Amino acid sequence: MEVIITDTKNQAEEIVAKIIQSQVNAKNNSLLGLATGRTMESVYSQLINFHKANELSFSSTSTVNLDEYVGLAPTHDQSYRYYMNDKLFNHVDINLENTHLPNGLAEDIPAECKKYEDKINSLGGIDLQLLGIGTDGHIGFNEPGSSLASRTRIKTLTKETIEQNGPIFGANEDVPKHALTMGVGTIMDAHKVVLLATGESKAKIVADAVEGPITAWVTASILQMHPSTIIVLDQESAANLKNRDYYKWAYENKPDWQKHY
Ligand code: GLP
Repeated sequence: MEVIITDTKNQAEEIVAKIIQSQVNAKNNSLLGLATGRTMESVYSQLINFHKANELSFSSTSTVNLDEYVGLAPTHDQSYRYYMNDKLFNHVDINLENTHLPNGLAEDIPAECKKYEDKINSLGGIDLQLLGIGTDGHIGFNEPGSSLASRTRIKTLTKETIEQNGPIFGANEDVPKHALTMGVGTIMDAHKVVLLATGESKAKIVADAVEGPITAWVTASILQMHPSTIIVLDQESAANLKNRDYYKWAYENKPDWQKHY
């Protein structure tokens, strides 16, 4: 696990955007695992800028998103399909047919979840998975107590997650109680993982995930077992880490051949 701590939020977002750019430039037909949430909005703006500057093309790229709310149609402005189209896909040269999210309206949910896993496999597996983190430690919607070997399935959101996402919907009552999410095991199968967390509201959970025990009660902590994970943080989200000085030292002394872009 590599921890990169930047001086500003903007720098953290820029590093993540550059890692994605260099993944797609190195392998245009990459399968990207994408994430939603407020944290990712600036990353997607950066990718749009790279595209407009002719420095990035998604023409052969496919994507799979981590999750989708149960019961929200793709046209609902809080669905994750709407978010992805609005924040990224509609502004770049990706073929929308190559972009995938779980279907939150599926009648047969177990069948939909199996189909999603099959889709990821048929596309050759995820080359790079982008992650945010919930204040309860979730990745995707893998709430505390999720099996660390879980696959795509339905999860009931915690009250904390509903409160965290309530302001985006307008009211907590409007947040769906269920979501379809890639499992922790699905995420762990990605070749490379990049987790971005910014702001002081994430400081406690970032320290638990990065330096605490590996536990199903902080599902992001399993990333300590992933062979190729990069955690990108700003000063605020990194504030509770004990080994900050070492992470900075290691980054400053990184061999050129190991650099991400
Ligand atoms: C939701 C998403 C997560 C995301 C989290 C954090 O719960 N399912 O993938 O990481 O929100 O969101 P934000 O970036 O808005 O803090």
